Amino acid sequence: MVVIEELERAQDALARCLRECDRAVAFTGAGLSTESGIPDFRSSDSAWRRHPPVPFKDFLADADARALAWRRKFAMDDLTAGARPGRGPRALARLMADDMLGDIVTQNIDGLHESAGAPAERIVELHGNGGYAACLSCGARHELADLRPRFEATGLAPECACGGPVKSATIAFGQAMPQEALRRARRASLNCDLYLAIGSSLVVYPAAAFPVLAKENGAALVIVNREPTPLDAAADLVLRGDIGSIFAPFESCSLRASTS
Ligand code: APR
Repeated sequence: MVVIEELERAQDALARCLRECDRAVAFTGAGLSTESGIPDFRSSDSAWRRHPPVPFKDFLADADARALAWRRKFAMDDLTAGARPGRGPRALARLMADDMLGDIVTQNIDGLHESAGAPAERIVELHGNGGYAACLSCGARHELADLRPRFEATGLAPECACGGPVKSATIAFGQAMPQEALRRARRASLNCDLYLAIGSSLVVYPAAAFPVLAKENGAALVIVNREPTPLDAAADLVLRGDIGSIFAPFESCSLRASTS
């Protein structure tokens, strides 16, 4: 494992990895969105500590827990309303447009990869999407703009026309992972020779198993994060620093053009 902390050296090393690989995949976490004002989960000042997600079994068991989950969800939405993609997601979208990056496997629920211009069909959302809701019984989609006024007027957690509980379309602790997303993430992780794990503490499984899978399958594993992670020792390269700063050159300058 090589650790680089100096910014320009980290940028050069990243450029070299991207130029030399045949197919790169990015695996992203909440650290990619902090520049946009969206808190990550495990930093000590995280707003998630004030509005912690309600575990799935509590959500299922109890109408009061469902109402609490919705109160916290809307409180977090207010904190992050209008967030725009930072330099990290913008650079990844640019690398995709330049054909220097294949897929993005993300744990994030904020939709910033898509807002940055990455094509939806090449983004795998492992933990769902917080931009809408779905009925847990029949799967019908519900829009937050419809649910919120009714919730605020009644204080009652929303229910579907079928009678099922409606939940934000994210994966709560204890909730089954989406099988299609897992399949796509596995395929992407096995079909690359460079795996960039960016802005994740890499402690939440099964998501964190994908960088391990890619590495075991022969890909070079590069971790970009400001703090150490438990997978650093398994990585080929660790770029330790601020994601926005490390990725800044890649959002405006075509790596492809600079190599030709
Ligand atoms: N630059 C570099 N690293 C950063 C930056 C930044 N600007 N901002 C935050 N980080 C780092 C943090 O130091 C931390 O190590 O990003 C990492 C984010 O880790 P977590 O908060 O644990 O987020 P993540 O790994 O995405 O969490 C995984 O946990 O609660 C669940 O479902 C939730 O998808 C989430 C999962």
